Amino acid sequence: MQYVIADQENMLRDGSIKLHGADGFAGMRRAGALAAAALDMLIPHVVPGAITAELDKLVLDFVLAAGAVPATVGYRGYAHASCISINHVVCHGIPSEKTLKDGDIVNIDITVIVDGWHGDTSRMFLIGDVPLRARRLVDVTYECLWLGIEQARPGKHVGDIGAAIQAHAERQRYGVVRDFCGHGLGKLFHDAPEIVHFGRPGTGPELRPGMFFTIEPMINLGKPGVKLLDDGWTAVTRDRSLSAQFEHSIGITEDGCEIFTRSPGGFDHPPY
Ligand code: MF3
Ligand code: CO
Ligand code: CO
Repeated sequence: MQYVIADQENMLRDGSIKLHGADGFAGMRRAGALAAAALDMLIPHVVPGAITAELDKLVLDFVLAAGAVPATVGYRGYAHASCISINHVVCHGIPSEKTLKDGDIVNIDITVIVDGWHGDTSRMFLIGDVPLRARRLVDVTYECLWLGIEQARPGKHVGDIGAAIQAHAERQRYGVVRDFCGHGLGKLFHDAPEIVHFGRPGTGPELRPGMFFTIEPMINLGKPGVKLLDDGWTAVTRDRSLSAQFEHSIGITEDGCEIFTRSPGGFDHPPY
């Protein structure tokens, strides 16, 4: 595995792992804070009856008003400022005229670009009265993200993150999605390395200061399998079981990691 210093900003998606300096951390802090603030802004609007396309419009307006742009508009043909994934939708749910219903669990995923830097984060929202089984899935998925983050420090390996997440999810007999993963990011949206949410400790690339990547476990109440709908984006659980996800963008520091996408309002997990 190849590591390159990113101070002469390297824009190539060439499989190398970029190691960033102080300017990168400063840029990611601003991008991450804006993405997280967009999720905070949505909280009072994510209620029973809300139309997902209107939530997406709120995100678009908020990001543009901040002088930034959504990374997802125009990304491989995607046309929206957010992904809104309801119940058995695993990820990449497309905003539409669909409304949120009492008892739904919903992931909203936002990526923004600020001065070229990408901030990518998602959280779960509970709509009205959510059954205990679904709330437990959401809580455990948040714990999985944190157990992954706790492994993120120099000397650890990418496989330590996946192993910690997989162990916790499978202890509850939940399924860890294999078909989507976390990713390096920075000036690029999706870059090396892949951060899979399962695996063996000590395997994969070693973590070094200056690496930027996301951790974004998708955990199913049932089996891990997913399928893609005909729209080419929406991923759903094969067994139609509920799925949950949380995502942070982080940077490896000398002694741990910095989380770029913490909620400015302290609303990192529901209930908000
Ligand atoms: N934000 C997603 C991720 O976590 C990617 C969404 S790409 C889109 O990597 F085109 F579906 F928006
Ligand atoms: Co991501
Ligand atoms: Co995302």
